Order: sequence, then structure tokens, then C-alpha cells
Amino acid sequence: MEKGRVYIFDTTLRDGEQSPGICLGVREKLEIAEQLQRLGVDIIEAGFPATSEGDFDAVTQLSAKLTESRVCALARARPDDIDRAWEAVKGAASPRIHTFISTSDIHLEHQLRKTREQVLEMARQAVKRARGYCEDVEFSPMDATRSEPAYLYSVLESAIEEGAGTLNIPDTVGYSVPAEFAELLRGIFENVRGIEGVIVSVHCHNDLGLAVANSLAAVECGARQVECAVNGLGERAGNASLEELVMTLKVRSDRLGLSTGIDSKEISRTSRLVSLLTGYPVQPNKAIVGRNAFAHESGIHQDGVLKERTTYEIMDAESVGLVESDIVLGKHSGRHALKEQLERLGYYLNEEELNQAFKRFKELADKKGSLSGEDIEAVALEYIRTEGQQWKLTAYEVHSGGHEAPPSATITLEREGERRTERAIGDGMVDAACKAIREALNVEAKLHSFTVEAITEGLESLGDVTIQLDVGEQRVVGRGVSTDIVEASARAYLNALNKVLRQ
Ligand code: KIV
Ligand code: ZN
Repeated sequence: MEKGRVYIFDTTLRDGEQSPGICLGVREKLEIAEQLQRLGVDIIEAGFPATSEGDFDAVTQLSAKLTESRVCALARARPDDIDRAWEAVKGAASPRIHTFISTSDIHLEHQLRKTREQVLEMARQAVKRARGYCEDVEFSPMDATRSEPAYLYSVLESAIEEGAGTLNIPDTVGYSVPAEFAELLRGIFENVRGIEGVIVSVHCHNDLGLAVANSLAAVECGARQVECAVNGLGERAGNASLEELVMTLKVRSDRLGLSTGIDSKEISRTSRLVSLLTGYPVQPNKAIVGRNAFAHESGIHQDGVLKERTTYEIMDAESVGLVESDIVLGKHSGRHALKEQLERLGYYLNEEELNQAFKRFKELADKKGSLSGEDIEAVALEYIRTEGQQWKLTAYEVHSGGHEAPPSATITLEREGERRTERAIGDGMVDAACKAIREALNVEAKLHSFTVEAITEGLESLGDVTIQLDVGEQRVVGRGVSTDIVEASARAYLNALNKVLRQ
């Protein structure tokens, strides 16, 4: 363990993917994982292989690909889960198995229906089995913050005896407050035999908005791994936000005296990539990565910043990778120029993706004249999402209606030489277009939410539509970009349905 170093454990692809509506395919997970590696994340929790074939596949493929970051697979404290986790992660350059079991009485009684002795033995056996496969094992006593401390200590001690190298203390339900969490950590450092030989980690949920504060309180007590997710994604209100933790450690290193291995200049790009691929927009006033995080509105602040930046800015926008983009491509730009600019922005598309992105880029450049770096990025990300055989929107026509006729839409979808055209009427043009898509694909779907944002400022900006759909029991998110809001909506709708159809 490097002195003064806090290890960043990113769980965007596991706990983050448990956010309602997020459903990432393997290609999308790979794209995010490679960016997390570029960002300098120490450990990437790639998934929970026992829960689905998709997760198993993703962990296997990420393990084969990532060379710098450690790859971690999650497993319940059950032999079959641990075997499956190892099967998926064993190809990684640096694999880790993370096994967990609840230790609070409330979970033992109502969920596990086991005694404390049984759970302690399950934890012991799980770590032992995982260590039989892998040198690097992490153990988590789930719901630690509502567990009886003396019992928690004994479970942690058993995990150390069986060879766990990292002990993670989760605030699973986001219940703790910073001083209380620090007290729990101090109790662990003082009472658990062998604790000095392992890394203590924390995993905080944000139900009370305290995930980052709790994690930092733990770090001040000696925790040296923090579990977090990009844009604070995760179950319910999410996990501690990676960007907030990292930038606090960086900006306040004067007080905390700690550092991470993160290249903070990659933060903005990582946040945008995760937002676009998950379909979860970032709130404008979100710390570090929100659109307004570095915007000064009041005259007094603007005046101060113009005279001396540090009057009202505690960090430089450039330190998180926010740079004015000078990239502009026009309708005469070629495929090579697009490829070059995308690579400058950090996007490496394969041939097929680049061909499709170029086609779309041309269509948009014809309508809009020129595309900025942000526009190009949004277009490219639509095609990175292309996985398996997807339905594509190849033609559409809408009529706003009038006294005589209701709004209507005719759309054409194509997939591998198959073409379907459908016409539908609706309450408005967006409704009609979505209905036509639904009918063409013969899927029942209910709209849960619909948001439109402008990618850049000004009237000529591309519209970015995010749609959440309920299809059966599942909630899926889709995103679409166009100069035309109806078309962006149709693309977002189709993007969401493609996710359901590819499963
Ligand atoms: O919140 C939690 O307790 C978890 C565990 C699996 C670490 O996600
Ligand atoms: Zn969690």
C-alpha cells in the first residue's frame, strides 16, 4: 500500500448499473471501462456474474481487455456465486473477487433468515473459497452501519483470518452521518485483530445526500479505498460520486494530505460518456461536472473572476478537462477528418461504427452547416451504442395536423435488409412517431419520462432527447440527437426499444 494514497474503486458498471432504467450492453460497458482505465481508476467493479449471462459476458470481456486497472467481480457469499465470479474474472491481468453478506440483525432476520453464527461461518467460507482461486479478495459486511459493532468486528476478523486483503464497510442504505461513520471506522481500527495488514474501504450510498461526506470522514480515519461511481450513479439515490471525491482529495490536499492516481483532466469526458451511454442526464448544478459548475452568473462574481480567477473559483475548469473546444467540422469535412477529431476527443470507433456515424454526421452537417466538438461527440456516441443487429430509422415524415386531420407520422425502420414502414396518428407529432415505431416493432411500451436538452447554446443547437420507457417489468432509457426534436425523440424511442429487443 502506497503511503498517503487513496485507491479509487469504481462501481459505475455494477452498482451504477443498478440505477433504474440503466441497461448497458457489453460494447457500451467496454467503452466506459476503457475510459475509466484512462481516467486512472485503480479497481473497476465490472459486474455481478452470477446474476445474468450478460453480466458474466461483460466481466469476461472486460477482463480480457483491461491491462492497467484491476478488474473485480461481485459474488454473494455462496459457493456457486464465487465460482461464477472467478470463471468470469480469471482472464484479467489483475483479478479481484468481491464477496459480501449482510451482518445487520434486520437483514439476518427478515432477508437471510439466518443466525449470526451461520452468517459468520458463511462469510468465512466465502472468503476461503475465493482465496482458493484468487490472491486478491475483498469482503463486505452489507448494511454494516446498522450492524451491532461487536458482531461486525468478529465477522471482519474471520474474513482477515481467511485471507481477505480488503475489508469494505458499506453504508448500504445511506443511513449514517459523518461523525457517526467516523466513529464506526475508529471502532473497527481499534478492535479488529489484524486490521493493520489490510486495506479498509468504504462504500456509501447517498439516500441522505451524505455519501461523499461519509466517505471523506472515513478516509480521515484511515480508510484507503473509496467505492464510488461516475456522476454518483447507483442503487436508489446512488453511490458517492467519483468526481466529487477525487476533486475534494485534490483541491483540499492541503488539509487531507492524500492523493489518488486519477488524471483529473479525464473527468469531464468520463462524465459525459457515462451520461450519454446510460441515458442519465447530469443535473446542471451538479458539483464538478454539472453544466453550471464553473459558470459565474452574478456581476460581483464575474467582476472578481475577471480580475483574479481565484477570487471565486477554488479549482480551474481545465483541471477537470473542461476546455473550450475549437473543433468545428462542416459539410465538406471528410470521413478522415471526423475520425481524427473523434480520436482527439478520445473516441475510437470501429469501421462499422465510423461509417454509420459519418453518414449521420453528413446528414446533420447538411442541415446545420457545421458541428462543434460537443455535437460530434453526441453523434458518435449514438453509434457506439450500436450493438448486435439494431433497427435503424431510415425515413420519417410527420404532419402536425390541423382542424381536419390529427397529427400523424410515417416511419421506416430497417434491420439487416428487412424493412418496415408504419403510419400512426397521435396526440402530437412525437406521440405519433413513437406510436408508429411501437407498431412497426410490435412492442408494448409505456412512456415513463421524456426530457429535451440543447447540446450547445443557441437556437441552432442539436436537441438531445432522453426517454425512459417501461416495457413489461423493465425500465429502459433511450437517447437520440437531431436538429429536429421530433426526429431526436423518435431516435431516443427506438434506441430504448433496441435495448429491449437485443436481450
Ligand atoms: O451497498 C452495498 O452494500 C453494496 C455491497 C454489495 C457492497 O453494494
Ligand atoms: Zn451499494
